[in-house]
Amino acid sequence: MIIKKAIIPAAGLGTRVLPASKAVPKEMLPIVDKPAIQYIVEEAVASGITDILIITNRGKGVIEDHFDHSLELESMMHKRGNFDMLADLQAVAKLANIYFVRQKETKGLGDAVLKAESFVGDEPFAVLYGDDVIIGEPPATKELCEAYEKYGKCVVGIKEVPDELLIKYSSLKVSPMEDRIFDVSDMIEKPAIGNKFSNYSVLGRCVLTSEIFDILRNTTLGVGNELQLTDAMKTLARRDGMIGVDFKATRYDMGNKFGMLKANVEVALTHKEIGEQTREYIKELAKTL
Ligand code: UTP
Repeated sequence: MIIKKAIIPAAGLGTRVLPASKAVPKEMLPIVDKPAIQYIVEEAVASGITDILIITNRGKGVIEDHFDHSLELESMMHKRGNFDMLADLQAVAKLANIYFVRQKETKGLGDAVLKAESFVGDEPFAVLYGDDVIIGEPPATKELCEAYEKYGKCVVGIKEVPDELLIKYSSLKVSPMEDRIFDVSDMIEKPAIGNKFSNYSVLGRCVLTSEIFDILRNTTLGVGNELQLTDAMKTLARRDGMIGVDFKATRYDMGNKFGMLKANVEVALTHKEIGEQTREYIKELAKTL
């Protein structure tokens, strides 16, 4: 795999999941027994990524702690003979080379991506949005990296979404190339009703080249008076074309309350410790609804 670097923007305020995200970063809210951002780092690693830059801000120091060793807990697990948990704890600290940088003001996803410029250098890189957990095989980032290698163009992860979600995300001008692969020639951030290209939207993952940094610097502030990554990708798509990959794995939007709930229910159902118990519980509960 050519692509070895990834960035995870995780500096947003998470206002849609308040009050849960008041003192705990939304990226640290759990899906069953792991914080959301661990699933994202694991997906990156499973896609061949070795170096990850997480973009954080004030109050998100616990993300750094999570990917570090906790010598106290590790020695406790050792003393108790809980070697499975010891291995799990140690594995988290060794997942990848993880670096951190702060976005000092929350000025939008585009601005967060700009903070990665010196980390990225001239290499292509993956962006995994910190509140989009994508679970399943093949890892979504891997599918995108493979498309980058095949077509030599920047790539966006895409899915068809209903109109009521489209106005919150983006709408893409697409034409099919092969199974689940599209040419993307234009896009619009948070389209007004009646102003869409298609129901395909960029969701949670992209692979970009360092060209994006100059484009971002020349992009004016967009929706919400923030520097929008989609606006910069629009310039790129119009100029060079991009590739859209309708990835196979399942995406959970951890930036909203129902997305968090769905992720927890579906992961619990397949969990080795509590899967069976969860299934029985949901069946019993459903009878009362
Ligand atoms: P969102 O717009 O969904 O995140 O950005 P948010 O601002 O935290 O959400 P709400 O609307 O207030 O609930 C998508 C991703 O980009 C990151 C977020 O952390 C999230 O992972 N982001 C967003 C940044 O890193 N910096 C920003 O300035 C904005």
